Amino acid sequence: MIVLLISYLCATNVITMSQDWFAEIKRMIVEIQSFEIKDATSLEQFRLQFLGTKNLIKPLFAAIGKIPNELKKEYGQLVNEAKILAEERFESFKELKESANKSNANHLDLSLPVRLRSEGTRHPISQVLERIVGIFSKIGFEVVEDREIEDDWHNFTALNTPDDHPARDMQDTYYLRDFGNMLLRTHTSSVQTRYMELNKPPIRILAPGRVYRNETISARSHCQFHQVEGLYIDKNISMADLKQTLLFFAKEMYGTEVRMRLRPSYFPFTEPSAEMDIYWGLKDETDYRITKGTGWLEILGCGMVDPAVLSNCGIDPEVYSGFAFGMGIERQAMLLHKIADIRYFFENDQRFLNQF
Ligand code: PHE
Repeated sequence: MIVLLISYLCATNVITMSQDWFAEIKRMIVEIQSFEIKDATSLEQFRLQFLGTKNLIKPLFAAIGKIPNELKKEYGQLVNEAKILAEERFESFKELKESANKSNANHLDLSLPVRLRSEGTRHPISQVLERIVGIFSKIGFEVVEDREIEDDWHNFTALNTPDDHPARDMQDTYYLRDFGNMLLRTHTSSVQTRYMELNKPPIRILAPGRVYRNETISARSHCQFHQVEGLYIDKNISMADLKQTLLFFAKEMYGTEVRMRLRPSYFPFTEPSAEMDIYWGLKDETDYRITKGTGWLEILGCGMVDPAVLSNCGIDPEVYSGFAFGMGIERQAMLLHKIADIRYFFENDQRFLNQF
């Protein structure tokens, strides 16, 4: 009797329980269907309630284990339906939301915060180049550009550097194997000869450009770099004009307190020749390293244009004279910005470039 009663109670209990379970899941389905989604906030609430990690459907899934076997299948299907329904409703509103965003895109919302665009900057080499050009244009130098693939005549021979001249070893050259005597220019001095052949004095030009030398790439040297060439040809031009021009440049570039010196040197195409140093200082270890312990830094080569070069280019050295100078741009950019390695200029790493 007691056993019967207990089993009866249990049975009724199970039945009432199972009916409760069904009621709960049915109520949930109605709730999912009728949940009012009207904006992004209510959509998010819907998602949290029915799809989030702590959603209300989850415990109903967990309850499957407690359901009597004969009801399990039906119950499982219902819970699954509830879940699919919630997903479908959410997805349909998500599309609505996206399309709403798109159609709103045509309207200008002035209350939106500004979206900062990442802008590029001029390459540090271009910036230094522009500065140099700006300085010399103040005293009447005109910018001229010419080719990077040059012939032997304009790069060497016309510049008083014949085939067997030892000075050719100063600049290890890239020759273009299949193009006769063509080469990658080793200096912008090639623009001097090109220009003098076609133009009569007075000549006052500045020729910036890329040059190439077969050098081992290291922190201090590269197989490609940039130079600016200056050339001034007229009647009665002397070394004093060269010196004053360079002093003007040095003051504009490095400040009026700059100290400069001209050191005798040798180039086949200038006579006399000199190198210009500026005083960098000897305060710390880096200064010692950069200036090799002298405090002075060489920034350009210069000199009075050799009469033979003028003749080679069709200018009468009895009537005209002039000076030329050539400077490396990387070297000066490194000085100005205290950059320790020349290779940075050619890697185009945004983290480096964005600093300028
Ligand atoms: N062309 C020389 C060099 O590359 C520099 C230079 C230019 C020297 C003009 C004198 C006159 O080293």
